[in-house]
Amino acid sequence: MAKIALGVTSSVSLYKACEILRGFQKAGHEVQVIETRNATALVAPALFDALSGRRTIIELFDDRQPWSVAHVALAKEIGLFVVAPATANILAKFAAGLADDFLSTFYLAVRSPILIAPAMNEAMWYHPQVQENIRRLRERGVQFVDPAGGFLACGDEGLGRLADPNLIVARGLDLLSHGDSLRGKTVLVTAGPTHEALDPVRYLSNRSSGRMGFEIAREARRRGADVVLVAGPTAIDPPAGIEVVRVVTAAEMKKAVDARFPSADITVMAAAVADFTFPSAAARKIKKSGLKASLEVVPTADILKGLGGRKKDGRILVGFAAETHDLEESARAKVRDKNLDLVVANDVSRDGVGFDADLNQAVLIDRRGRVRSTDILSKRALAAVVWDAIEDLREQKK
Ligand SMILES: Cc1cc2nc3c(=O)[nH]c(=O)nc-3n(C[C@H](O)[C@H](O)[C@H](O)COP(=O)(O)O)c2cc1C
Repeated sequence: MAKIALGVTSSVSLYKACEILRGFQKAGHEVQVIETRNATALVAPALFDALSGRRTIIELFDDRQPWSVAHVALAKEIGLFVVAPATANILAKFAAGLADDFLSTFYLAVRSPILIAPAMNEAMWYHPQVQENIRRLRERGVQFVDPAGGFLACGDEGLGRLADPNLIVARGLDLLSHGDSLRGKTVLVTAGPTHEALDPVRYLSNRSSGRMGFEIAREARRRGADVVLVAGPTAIDPPAGIEVVRVVTAAEMKKAVDARFPSADITVMAAAVADFTFPSAAARKIKKSGLKASLEVVPTADILKGLGGRKKDGRILVGFAAETHDLEESARAKVRDKNLDLVVANDVSRDGVGFDADLNQAVLIDRRGRVRSTDILSKRALAAVVWDAIEDLREQKK
């Protein structure tokens, strides 16, 4: 059982928050409701008190609260923070870091995953400022359940209705921290491709989408770790509750990883770092007529091998290998040559599996030669298998 904070704001769809509350309770979780002052004008806190069995929090300065600094105390207790419905106003306050009531102050103190389900009139939803606020929050790892289309309370038809409460509950349960086997551990994960510029418009890269690394980061977070994700250029949203460091080139990725490696207990390198780069990038676009028939490339630094050489004090280092053939043999060689604890080798030769796909199949080989082959799994499920293998290794190290 986990404790979930449910923030509710003054949208007409507020009545649906009761169903969301019930959904989390049915899944066995305890829910603490936080209302904005304006929300209490639409639905009195007594209804949420009755449904949740706990006194709804509204005010920041409340003499009757048993805690001295309630927003900080509650933030430490919860496994998930959901805001549904979220008004345009609360999105703006969260995005700006404004903390002038309990809900907005609490947002700044929360470290667990955050899920927001906005609801508003379609014109408000499409206002550039609202979209900008959402973009900023997404960049910080906040997850969203976007509004649905249909009949709106104001009489208009369009996009802006609060998403289906069942969907919000399902997404919330998915984000909820699972166990705490990695609590207190710092995990460094890399993901995505790198882009090596030839000139301002052309680059050398690969088909990595970043999905596998993002799932590895998500699963570590679900197990309670503090996660830093160093990500190359990707089009996917980062998981909630983790620090994301964006890089573009292999050299930038190396710098970011090298700096953070000493404070990481476990490092998982799932990025598909370019093996080659250009000796230098042209400052201006090279004209077609100026392009040579063959281009000179130089190798990039082997980040993983560099870390293997530095590894000590019980740190665990895991590498990924994207292979089109001889999976097991290549993985075995990589464990040895790069001084790794575990290699996850995936077959990228087939359509729909591996690179730029939702599914993956892998062979895991650890430093003691233990081999595990998986079926074709979702990348999320494979991330769980990888973490189980890493946790086995940690047990052996104790
Ligand atoms: C009946 C009514 C319904 C409203 N529904 C919404 C809504 O769905 N979404 C929204 O962003 N604002 C809505 N508003 C406007 C917000 O209540 C208003 O911006 C308020 O200042 C937000 O305060 P809060 O975010 O602290 O709850 C509504 C206002 C009224 C009076």
